[in-house]
Amino acid sequence: MPKLTKGILIVFEGIDGGGKTTQARHLQAILKEGEFEVLYFREPSDSRWGKIIREKSVEEDSLTPQEELDLFVKDRRENVANNLSPALAEKRIVILDRYYFSTIAYQGAKGIDPEAIRMMNESFVIAPDLVFILDVKADLGLERIQGRGQRDLLFEREDYLRKVRELFFSFQGEHIFHIDAMRPPDVVAEDIGQIAQDYIDFFVE
Ligand code: TYD
Repeated sequence: MPKLTKGILIVFEGIDGGGKTTQARHLQAILKEGEFEVLYFREPSDSRWGKIIREKSVEEDSLTPQEELDLFVKDRRENVANNLSPALAEKRIVILDRYYFSTIAYQGAKGIDPEAIRMMNESFVIAPDLVFILDVKADLGLERIQGRGQRDLLFEREDYLRKVRELFFSFQGEHIFHIDAMRPPDVVAEDIGQIAQDYIDFFVE
């Protein structure tokens, strides 16, 4: 089993329907074939706060944006402390399906100051090594998760996701990769695999 000189945190982000979970699971499988130990976590997590988020999200707009923000941050604190931190301390690869970029984008698109959300999160999160932002147009993302035919009913949701997508565009940095996820999944997977593998190779003992 290849040993790493440090833990590596790889984050998948993007609006709904971009194929984030599929790509995250695929990368996990590829890395496992290379005998790496890879853990997969997601946010909202399975903490008590994450459970509340998942229950509430079925009732539309049952929470104010501020209440949502508070719950996502509480959930993230537990995920960082209980899951990410121990795994990274053991020098494992951690794949994380959504992180605080989602909070900046989704709760930011509901009117909370994105910069304030960023600062609040960066005060306690572990900085990711790589961030893949899977980009799809809002209407395509919605089509992928809901099927065709009811687009008029989804107008509000589409408008919201358009704002979320804009906020995802605004993230820049040398560890942040904007991936065109409107291409076939295997092409997307190849891009991601290449970037991840090159990065990881650098930290193999
Ligand atoms: P998602 O990853 O789509 O979960 P599932 O695979 O169960 O559908 O996340 C659920 C929703 O939560 C998604 O619409 C994005 C939203 N979300 C936020 O609004 N803020 C956040 O901080 C996070 C992590 C997710």
